[in-house]
Amino acid sequence: MSDPRPLCTSRPIQRPAPDRREPEAATRRREEAGRTHRDVVSFVRRGERLTPSRQAAWDRLADDYVLDPPRGERDTLPGEGAWVDLEELFGRRAELVVEVGSGLGENIVAAARAHPERDHLGVEVYLPGLAQTLIRIDRAERPRNLRLLPLDAQRALPAMLPEGSIDELWVYFADPWPKARHHKRRIINPPFLDAVLPLLADGARFRLATDWAQYAHHMRHVLDARPELTNLHPDGPRPEGTTSDTVPEGMPVTGWAPRFEGRVKTSFENKGREAGRLIWDLAYMRGSQPPATDGASDPGALADS
Ligand SMILES: C[S@@+](CC[C@H](N)C(=O)[O-])C[C@H]1O[C@@H](n2cnc3c(N)ncnc32)[C@H](O)[C@@H]1O
Repeated sequence: MSDPRPLCTSRPIQRPAPDRREPEAATRRREEAGRTHRDVVSFVRRGERLTPSRQAAWDRLADDYVLDPPRGERDTLPGEGAWVDLEELFGRRAELVVEVGSGLGENIVAAARAHPERDHLGVEVYLPGLAQTLIRIDRAERPRNLRLLPLDAQRALPAMLPEGSIDELWVYFADPWPKARHHKRRIINPPFLDAVLPLLADGARFRLATDWAQYAHHMRHVLDARPELTNLHPDGPRPEGTTSDTVPEGMPVTGWAPRFEGRVKTSFENKGREAGRLIWDLAYMRGSQPPATDGASDPGALADS
């Protein structure tokens, strides 16, 4: 690409002009997210050391791709006044795709490459995952419509993005937290939804996938209860086949999405498949218009990234 715009991470994170910031709304959202989330987080940070190739990618590309906002009381939390000016960050205002828990970057890098007309933000707290994403960015010829935010999505997104600014939100293969005493750590829970649903534009898509039937059941329970969301596939059948994990009683037989054509296979999906588990896709829209056509394809047709 020959775009001459500088890639910059430090300048775009700044206090917004008062007329654009809606400070009271942003402060309220941050406080609400903080109050519900202070002690329970959806991730464990371990094994943060980088291999030499990941360290090299970090040294080469982090300044251009990994945002470095002021931090709060922990290094995964945004500090006071941390804010993303999307227009300044990307040099334009285009549709925004956000992936929460972007992992090793398979999906967000493939999407940025396939859709130069959209902007993309991967949110991830796992440093080796971010570094591996930088390796992918390098191999993908360094798309300029992508940035990475190394913070806790539940706390950072409502503090740093304006309401209605996200056009696609993806949460794929989120940590399942299978033990009952850990269910509160699952990211798909009311506090996360309270934090991110106001950020979705009217008509925005919210796509999810999991290889854990119990978590799929839980997701349906909390997402179907949200009046802000419409299931895009109310008649969609449950995935075909048997699964090696336990399907909970009362699992809905319809309301499942076909595989989204833009979702590439990740190592987490492959692990689930190899263990004999089914893949459960969900797709919602913010707003209440009747479900529109939605991208889907035959899973077998998708190449690994
Ligand atoms: C099981 S991995 C899946 C990664 C990727 N979505 C995929 O399909 O391969 C879940 C990821 O979510 C990240 N994560 C969990 N909670 C998060 C949060 N609150 N904010 C940002 N990332 C989070 C974890 O660090 C982990 O890398």
